[in-house]
Amino acid sequence: LKQIPKAIIELLQNRKESNAFRELTDSANLIDFYSNDYLGLAQWESKLHGAHGSTGSRLVSGNTNRTVQIEQELADFFEMESALLFNSGYDANLGLFSSLPQKGDTVLYDQLIHASIRDGIRLGRATSFAFLHNDLAELKRRLESAEGTIYVVVESIYSMDGDEADLRAFASLCEEFGAFLIVDEAHSGGIIGDQGRGLTSQGNLNERIFAKIITFGKAYGSHGAVILGSSVLRDFLINFARSFLYTTAISPQAQERILAVVQKAAKADGARIDLEKNILLFKDLMKLSTFELIPSQSPIQSIVIPGNSAVKQKAKIIQETGYAVKAILYPTVPKGKERLRICLHSYNSEKEIKNLIKAFHE
Ligand SMILES: Cc1ncc(COP(=O)(O)O)c(C=O)c1O
Repeated sequence: LKQIPKAIIELLQNRKESNAFRELTDSANLIDFYSNDYLGLAQWESKLHGAHGSTGSRLVSGNTNRTVQIEQELADFFEMESALLFNSGYDANLGLFSSLPQKGDTVLYDQLIHASIRDGIRLGRATSFAFLHNDLAELKRRLESAEGTIYVVVESIYSMDGDEADLRAFASLCEEFGAFLIVDEAHSGGIIGDQGRGLTSQGNLNERIFAKIITFGKAYGSHGAVILGSSVLRDFLINFARSFLYTTAISPQAQERILAVVQKAAKADGARIDLEKNILLFKDLMKLSTFELIPSQSPIQSIVIPGNSAVKQKAKIIQETGYAVKAILYPTVPKGKERLRICLHSYNSEKEIKNLIKAFHE
C-alpha cells in the first residue's frame, strides 16, 4: 500500500545522478563561516525572551542533529515513518502541494479545503478539481476521469465548518483508484485520538494514507508544522519543496517547544474530556435555537448569519457583552454562509457558555 509515485523516485534519482541531491547535515561543531548570523546575535540569550536563532536555512546552517532527532520523535509519535518540520502549516502545505504533483497529474480536493492547500496547488503544474464538500460520490466521478498520478486531499476536521471527513471511506475510494490520500490534521492534532494523535491514528489509517500534516499553532498552542510520510517523501521535500528550501529554519527554541507541547498534550486526557463536555453542552443548548448551526462534533461550532454586514453586526453586539467571537466573512466562506465561528475550549466554564448563548439570542 505504501507506494511512492514513480515520478518522485525518478526526480530523486536524477538529482543523485547529477550530484545535486541535497541532504541535511550538522556542522555546528565547526567554526562558523556559513551562517547568516552576521552579528552573532543568534547566540545571544535575552533574559526576557530566551532563545537562539537558527541562523540559516536547513540545508545551509539551520539544521542540527537535534532537529532531526525531534523530527524522528514526532514521526514515531504520529505513527508515520518520517517527519519534516516547517515554519507554519501554511508553509508546509504550500511546499507540499506546489512540489509533489507533477505536470500531467491530477489533484482532487474538497471544495472547503484550506487556502494554504489551494495556494500550493496553484503554484504547481498539475491539473486540479474541487469536489463537493465530503461528497464521496462526486469524488468517485472525478477519480474515474482523472489522469496521471492522482492525489486526493481532505482535512480531518474542516477549519470553518468543524465537521469531519469520513477518512475510512476516503481511504477505500482512493485505494480503488490507486490514488494517494493526503490528510490535513490541523484541527484534530492534540484533541482527537489516543493521546491526541489525530483522526488518522484513531482510525488506524496511517498505513493507508500517503501523508498527513499536523500543525502546532492550534490545539498545541505553539506554531510550526510537520509533514509526515515516508522517508522518500521527506527526501523529496528536502530537495524540492521551496517553502522548506528557501527560508530560515524554525528556531531551536520553537523546535523544542513543539516536542514539549506534543508530549504535554499526550498526557492531557483531562483537558480533552473537559473540551468534549463543553462541546456537548454547547450543542445541547443550541438545540433550542432558531439559528442554523453547522453540524459538527468538534470545538469549531459555526452559526450561520447570512451577509457580511449582518454577521459583523452580530459579532459586534456579542463582543460588547464581553465575549470574543469573530465573524467569518465572504469570500473566506461562500456567500450566504457567513458565520460566527465559535471555538470552544477545555477551560471555558459552563456559565461562560450559557451566557454566550444568551448574549447571542438577545
Ligand atoms: C486546515 C488548515 N491547514 C493549514 C493551516 C495553516 O496552518 P498555520 O496557521 O500553522 O500556518 C490552517 C490554519 O491556519 C488550517 O486551518
